[in-house]
Amino acid sequence: MTTRKETAVPEEILVTGGTGLLGRLVVQHLLDEGARVRVMSRRPRPADDASPYAWATADLRSGAGVAEAVAGVAAVVHCATAFGRQAELQLVRTLVEAAGRGGSPHLLYTSIVGVDRIPLPYYKGKLAAEQLVQQSGLPHTVLRATQFHDLLRTVFAAAATAPVVMPVPDFRFQPVDAGEVAARLASLAVGEPVGRAPDFAGPEVRQAGEFAAAYLRASDRRRRILPVRLPGRTFRAYRSGAHLAPDQTVGKVTFEDYLAGIPDVRGRSYRQR
Ligand SMILES: NC(=O)c1ccc[n+]([C@@H]2O[C@H](COP(=O)([O-])OP(=O)(O)OC[C@H]3O[C@@H](n4cnc5c(N)ncnc54)[C@H](OP(=O)(O)O)[C@@H]3O)[C@@H](O)[C@H]2O)c1
Repeated sequence: MTTRKETAVPEEILVTGGTGLLGRLVVQHLLDEGARVRVMSRRPRPADDASPYAWATADLRSGAGVAEAVAGVAAVVHCATAFGRQAELQLVRTLVEAAGRGGSPHLLYTSIVGVDRIPLPYYKGKLAAEQLVQQSGLPHTVLRATQFHDLLRTVFAAAATAPVVMPVPDFRFQPVDAGEVAARLASLAVGEPVGRAPDFAGPEVRQAGEFAAAYLRASDRRRRILPVRLPGRTFRAYRSGAHLAPDQTVGKVTFEDYLAGIPDVRGRSYRQR
Protein backbone atom coordinates (compact mmCIF):
# COMPACT_ATOMS: atom_id res chain seq x y z
CA MET A 1 0.00 0.00 0.00
CA THR A 2 1.37 3.40 -0.88
CA THR A 3 0.91 6.31 1.46
CA ARG A 4 0.66 9.76 0.02
CA LYS A 5 2.34 12.51 2.01
CA GLU A 6 -0.13 15.31 2.61
CA THR A 7 1.35 18.76 2.32
CA ALA A 8 -0.81 21.45 3.91
CA VAL A 9 -1.11 24.32 1.47
CA PRO A 10 -1.70 27.57 3.36
CA GLU A 11 -4.86 29.39 2.43
CA GLU A 12 -4.53 32.48 0.30
CA ILE A 13 -4.87 35.98 1.73
CA LEU A 14 -5.82 38.95 -0.44
CA VAL A 15 -4.23 42.32 0.34
CA THR A 16 -6.11 45.20 -1.26
CA GLY A 17 -3.86 48.20 -1.73
CA GLY A 18 -0.95 45.75 -1.67
CA THR A 19 1.02 48.31 -3.70
CA GLY A 20 0.54 51.10 -1.13
CA LEU A 21 2.65 52.09 1.86
CA LEU A 22 0.94 49.86 4.43
CA GLY A 23 -0.20 47.15 2.03
CA ARG A 24 3.31 46.45 0.71
CA LEU A 25 4.53 45.94 4.27
CA VAL A 26 1.59 43.64 5.09
CA VAL A 27 2.37 41.58 1.99
CA GLN A 28 5.99 41.22 3.10
CA HIS A 29 5.04 40.15 6.63
CA LEU A 30 2.53 37.61 5.33
CA LEU A 31 5.10 36.13 2.95
CA ASP A 32 7.60 35.98 5.81
CA GLU A 33 5.02 34.04 7.85
CA GLY A 34 4.66 31.54 5.02
CA ALA A 35 1.21 32.67 3.88
CA ARG A 36 0.09 32.57 0.26
CA VAL A 37 -0.66 36.12 -0.83
CA ARG A 38 -2.68 37.73 -3.59
CA VAL A 39 -2.11 41.45 -4.22
CA MET A 40 -4.93 43.62 -5.54
CA SER A 41 -4.15 46.71 -7.60
CA ARG A 42 -5.95 48.71 -10.27
CA ARG A 43 -2.86 48.29 -12.43
CA PRO A 44 -1.67 45.18 -14.20
CA ARG A 45 1.25 43.40 -12.63
CA PRO A 46 4.54 45.10 -13.61
CA ALA A 47 6.50 42.97 -16.07
CA ASP A 48 9.60 42.95 -13.84
CA ASP A 49 7.72 41.90 -10.66
CA ALA A 50 8.89 38.38 -9.85
CA SER A 51 7.75 38.39 -6.21
CA PRO A 52 6.19 35.19 -4.84
CA TYR A 53 2.59 36.39 -4.74
CA ALA A 54 -0.37 36.21 -7.07
CA TRP A 55 -1.81 39.37 -8.59
CA ALA A 56 -5.41 40.48 -9.12
CA THR A 57 -6.12 43.55 -11.20
CA ALA A 58 -9.34 45.06 -9.88
CA ASP A 59 -10.96 48.41 -9.16
CA LEU A 60 -12.95 48.75 -5.95
CA ARG A 61 -14.59 51.92 -7.20
CA SER A 62 -16.06 50.49 -10.41
CA GLY A 63 -16.17 46.89 -9.18
CA ALA A 64 -14.27 45.60 -12.22
CA GLY A 65 -12.37 42.40 -11.41
CA VAL A 66 -13.33 42.38 -7.72
CA ALA A 67 -15.33 39.12 -7.74
CA GLU A 68 -12.35 37.29 -9.27
CA ALA A 69 -9.95 38.99 -6.84
CA VAL A 70 -11.79 37.79 -3.71
CA ALA A 71 -12.69 34.35 -5.03
CA GLY A 72 -11.45 31.55 -2.79
CA VAL A 73 -9.41 33.61 -0.34
CA ALA A 74 -9.48 32.87 3.40
CA ALA A 75 -8.95 36.49 4.44
CA VAL A 76 -8.85 39.97 2.96
CA VAL A 77 -6.60 42.64 4.49
CA HIS A 78 -8.12 45.86 3.22
CA CYS A 79 -5.35 48.45 2.83
CA ALA A 80 -6.71 50.19 -0.27
CA THR A 81 -8.02 53.64 0.45
CA ALA A 82 -9.54 56.60 -1.36
CA PHE A 83 -9.73 60.11 0.03
CA GLY A 84 -13.12 61.57 0.68
CA ARG A 85 -16.06 60.37 2.70
CA GLN A 86 -18.01 58.71 -0.10
CA ALA A 87 -14.97 57.37 -1.92
CA GLU A 88 -13.60 55.51 1.14
CA LEU A 89 -17.02 54.05 1.87
CA GLN A 90 -17.55 53.04 -1.76
CA LEU A 91 -14.39 50.92 -1.83
CA VAL A 92 -15.45 49.08 1.32
CA ARG A 93 -19.02 48.60 0.10
CA THR A 94 -17.79 46.99 -3.11
CA LEU A 95 -15.45 44.75 -1.15
CA VAL A 96 -18.06 43.69 1.43
CA GLU A 97 -20.59 42.82 -1.27
CA ALA A 98 -18.06 40.79 -3.27
CA ALA A 99 -16.73 39.05 -0.17
CA GLY A 100 -20.27 38.15 0.90
CA ARG A 101 -20.80 36.42 -2.44
CA GLY A 102 -17.32 34.93 -2.52
CA GLY A 103 -17.28 32.54 0.45
CA SER A 104 -17.30 34.75 3.56
CA PRO A 105 -13.58 35.41 4.12
CA HIS A 106 -12.21 37.07 7.27
CA LEU A 107 -12.27 40.78 6.40
CA LEU A 108 -9.74 43.08 8.10
CA TYR A 109 -10.28 46.81 7.91
CA THR A 110 -7.53 49.31 8.69
CA SER A 111 -8.83 52.41 10.39
CA ILE A 112 -7.48 55.41 12.27
CA VAL A 113 -7.63 56.36 15.97
CA GLY A 114 -10.15 59.18 16.36
CA VAL A 115 -12.33 58.54 13.29
CA ASP A 116 -15.30 58.79 15.65
CA ARG A 117 -14.12 62.07 17.23
CA ILE A 118 -12.58 64.16 14.45
CA PRO A 119 -15.00 65.62 11.86
CA LEU A 120 -12.78 65.23 8.78
CA PRO A 121 -14.80 63.98 5.77
CA TYR A 122 -12.26 61.17 5.20
CA TYR A 123 -12.60 60.09 8.83
CA LYS A 124 -16.40 60.15 8.58
CA GLY A 125 -16.06 57.83 5.59
CA LYS A 126 -13.78 55.54 7.59
CA LEU A 127 -16.19 55.45 10.54
CA ALA A 128 -19.08 54.57 8.20
CA ALA A 129 -16.85 51.93 6.56
CA GLU A 130 -16.04 50.41 9.98
CA GLN A 131 -19.77 50.17 10.68
CA LEU A 132 -20.41 48.60 7.29
CA VAL A 133 -17.79 45.94 7.99
CA GLN A 134 -19.16 45.34 11.51
CA GLN A 135 -22.71 44.94 10.23
CA SER A 136 -21.76 42.90 7.16
CA GLY A 137 -22.27 39.49 8.74
CA LEU A 138 -18.73 38.62 7.60
CA PRO A 139 -16.10 37.46 10.09
CA HIS A 140 -14.14 40.65 10.63
CA THR A 141 -11.42 42.54 12.46
CA VAL A 142 -11.09 46.32 12.65
CA LEU A 143 -7.73 47.76 13.65
CA ARG A 144 -7.32 51.48 14.30
CA ALA A 145 -3.80 52.93 14.22
CA THR A 146 -2.40 56.39 14.86
CA GLN A 147 -0.66 58.45 12.15
CA PHE A 148 2.28 56.74 10.47
CA HIS A 149 5.76 58.25 10.85
CA ASP A 150 5.76 58.60 7.05
CA LEU A 151 2.84 61.03 7.23
CA LEU A 152 4.61 63.32 9.68
CA ARG A 153 7.78 63.22 7.61
CA THR A 154 5.81 64.19 4.49
CA VAL A 155 4.14 67.10 6.31
CA PHE A 156 7.46 68.33 7.71
CA ALA A 157 9.23 68.01 4.35
CA ALA A 158 6.56 70.24 2.81
CA ALA A 159 6.70 72.72 5.70
CA ALA A 160 10.51 72.91 5.47
CA THR A 161 10.43 74.17 1.88
CA ALA A 162 10.13 77.69 3.32
CA PRO A 163 13.70 78.89 3.96
CA VAL A 164 13.62 80.34 7.50
CA VAL A 165 10.44 79.52 9.37
CA MET A 166 8.80 76.11 9.54
CA PRO A 167 5.11 76.27 10.47
CA VAL A 168 3.75 73.22 12.34
CA PRO A 169 0.41 72.59 14.05
CA ASP A 170 0.24 73.48 17.75
CA PHE A 171 -0.92 70.04 18.83
CA ARG A 172 0.49 66.64 19.74
CA PHE A 173 0.96 63.48 17.73
CA GLN A 174 1.61 59.85 18.59
CA PRO A 175 3.03 58.53 15.33
CA VAL A 176 3.58 54.83 14.75
CA ASP A 177 5.76 52.78 12.46
CA ALA A 178 3.74 51.45 9.49
CA GLY A 179 5.88 48.29 9.53
CA GLU A 180 4.77 47.50 13.08
CA VAL A 181 1.12 48.08 12.17
CA ALA A 182 1.61 45.83 9.14
CA ALA A 183 3.06 43.08 11.34
CA ARG A 184 0.01 43.29 13.62
CA LEU A 185 -2.36 43.15 10.64
CA ALA A 186 -0.53 40.14 9.22
CA SER A 187 -0.77 38.25 12.50
CA LEU A 188 -4.45 39.18 12.88
CA ALA A 189 -5.09 37.97 9.31
CA VAL A 190 -3.82 34.47 10.02
CA GLY A 191 -5.78 34.27 13.28
CA GLU A 192 -9.43 34.22 14.26
CA PRO A 193 -11.53 37.37 13.69
CA VAL A 194 -11.58 39.54 16.82
CA GLY A 195 -14.08 42.27 15.92
CA ARG A 196 -12.60 45.56 17.13
CA ALA A 197 -8.92 44.93 17.92
CA PRO A 198 -7.11 47.06 20.53
CA ASP A 199 -5.85 50.30 18.99
CA PHE A 200 -2.26 50.37 17.76
CA ALA A 201 -0.49 53.59 18.72
CA GLY A 202 3.09 54.81 18.64
CA PRO A 203 5.50 54.88 21.59
CA GLU A 204 5.56 58.64 22.25
CA VAL A 205 3.03 61.44 22.55
CA ARG A 206 4.88 64.67 21.81
CA GLN A 207 4.18 68.12 20.42
CA ALA A 208 4.36 68.37 16.62
CA GLY A 209 7.14 70.92 17.11
CA GLU A 210 9.32 68.33 18.89
CA PHE A 211 8.85 65.84 16.05
CA ALA A 212 9.61 68.65 13.58
CA ALA A 213 12.85 69.39 15.43
CA ALA A 214 13.82 65.72 15.14
CA TYR A 215 13.08 65.87 11.41
CA LEU A 216 15.27 68.98 11.00
CA ARG A 217 18.14 67.35 12.90
CA ALA A 218 17.90 64.18 10.78
CA SER A 219 17.83 66.16 7.54
CA ASP A 220 20.60 68.51 8.69
CA ARG A 221 18.62 71.71 8.24
CA ARG A 222 17.94 74.75 10.37
CA ARG A 223 14.54 76.40 10.56
CA ARG A 224 12.72 78.31 13.25
CA ILE A 225 9.78 76.11 14.21
CA LEU A 226 6.59 78.13 14.43
CA PRO A 227 3.61 76.43 16.13
CA VAL A 228 0.45 77.54 14.34
CA ARG A 229 -3.06 77.49 15.78
CA LEU A 230 -5.31 76.19 13.01
CA PRO A 231 -8.97 77.22 13.19
CA GLY A 232 -12.13 75.15 13.17
CA ARG A 233 -13.73 72.12 14.79
CA THR A 234 -11.42 69.59 13.20
CA PHE A 235 -8.26 71.17 14.59
CA ARG A 236 -9.93 71.75 17.94
CA ALA A 237 -10.49 67.99 18.05
CA TYR A 238 -6.81 67.38 17.22
CA ARG A 239 -5.78 69.86 19.94
CA SER A 240 -7.91 67.94 22.42
CA GLY A 241 -5.98 64.76 21.56
CA ALA A 242 -8.85 62.93 19.82
CA HIS A 243 -6.35 61.19 17.50
CA LEU A 244 -4.19 59.87 20.37
CA ALA A 245 -4.32 56.59 22.30
CA PRO A 246 -1.88 57.19 25.18
CA ASP A 247 -2.93 53.97 26.92
CA GLN A 248 -2.09 51.94 23.79
CA THR A 249 1.58 52.75 23.27
CA VAL A 250 2.17 49.43 21.56
CA GLY A 251 4.63 50.51 18.87
CA LYS A 252 8.32 50.43 19.78
CA VAL A 253 9.87 52.33 16.85
CA THR A 254 10.26 56.02 17.69
CA PHE A 255 10.14 58.81 15.11
CA GLU A 256 13.92 59.22 15.47
CA ASP A 257 14.43 55.45 14.91
CA TYR A 258 12.27 55.68 11.80
CA LEU A 259 14.12 58.72 10.42
CA ALA A 260 17.46 56.97 10.95
CA GLY A 261 16.28 54.21 8.60
CA ILE A 262 15.29 56.50 5.71
CA PRO A 263 18.15 57.02 3.23
CA ASP A 264 16.76 60.29 1.83
CA VAL A 265 15.10 61.89 4.83
CA ARG A 266 14.39 65.08 2.90
CA GLY A 267 12.50 63.17 0.21
CA ARG A 268 8.90 64.17 0.10
CA SER A 269 7.44 61.00 -1.36
CA TYR A 270 4.95 59.58 1.12
CA ARG A 271 5.63 56.09 -0.18
CA GLN A 272 9.40 56.31 -0.07
CA ARG A 273 10.76 53.81 2.41
N1 LIG B 1 -1.19 57.11 6.58
C1 LIG B 1 -1.46 57.08 7.88
O1 LIG B 1 -0.89 57.82 8.70
C2 LIG B 1 -2.47 56.04 8.38
C3 LIG B 1 -2.62 55.86 9.75
C4 LIG B 1 -3.53 54.91 10.21
C5 LIG B 1 -4.27 54.18 9.28
N2 LIG B 1 -4.11 54.40 7.95
C6 LIG B 1 -4.93 53.62 7.00
O2 LIG B 1 -4.10 52.65 6.38
C7 LIG B 1 -4.65 52.31 5.10
C8 LIG B 1 -3.54 52.31 4.06
O3 LIG B 1 -3.02 53.61 3.93
P1 LIG B 1 -1.72 53.91 3.05
O4 LIG B 1 -1.19 55.19 3.56
O5 LIG B 1 -0.86 52.70 3.00
O6 LIG B 1 -2.37 54.13 1.61
P2 LIG B 1 -1.62 54.41 0.22
O7 LIG B 1 -0.15 54.24 0.33
O8 LIG B 1 -2.15 55.71 -0.30
O9 LIG B 1 -2.15 53.24 -0.72
C9 LIG B 1 -3.46 53.25 -1.21
C10 LIG B 1 -3.70 51.96 -1.98
O10 LIG B 1 -5.07 51.95 -2.38
C11 LIG B 1 -5.15 51.34 -3.65
N3 LIG B 1 -6.37 51.84 -4.29
C12 LIG B 1 -6.76 53.13 -4.39
N4 LIG B 1 -7.93 53.21 -5.06
C13 LIG B 1 -8.27 51.93 -5.38
C14 LIG B 1 -9.38 51.36 -6.09
N5 LIG B 1 -10.36 52.12 -6.62
N6 LIG B 1 -9.42 50.02 -6.23
C15 LIG B 1 -8.43 49.22 -5.72
N7 LIG B 1 -7.35 49.72 -5.05
C16 LIG B 1 -7.28 51.06 -4.89
C17 LIG B 1 -3.87 51.75 -4.35
O11 LIG B 1 -3.53 50.73 -5.27
P3 LIG B 1 -3.21 50.95 -6.85
O12 LIG B 1 -2.82 52.39 -7.03
O13 LIG B 1 -2.08 49.99 -7.12
O14 LIG B 1 -4.46 50.59 -7.52
C18 LIG B 1 -2.85 51.81 -3.22
O15 LIG B 1 -2.14 50.61 -3.12
C19 LIG B 1 -5.78 53.32 4.86
O16 LIG B 1 -7.01 52.72 5.14
C20 LIG B 1 -5.50 54.43 5.85
O17 LIG B 1 -6.66 55.12 6.25
C21 LIG B 1 -3.22 55.30 7.48
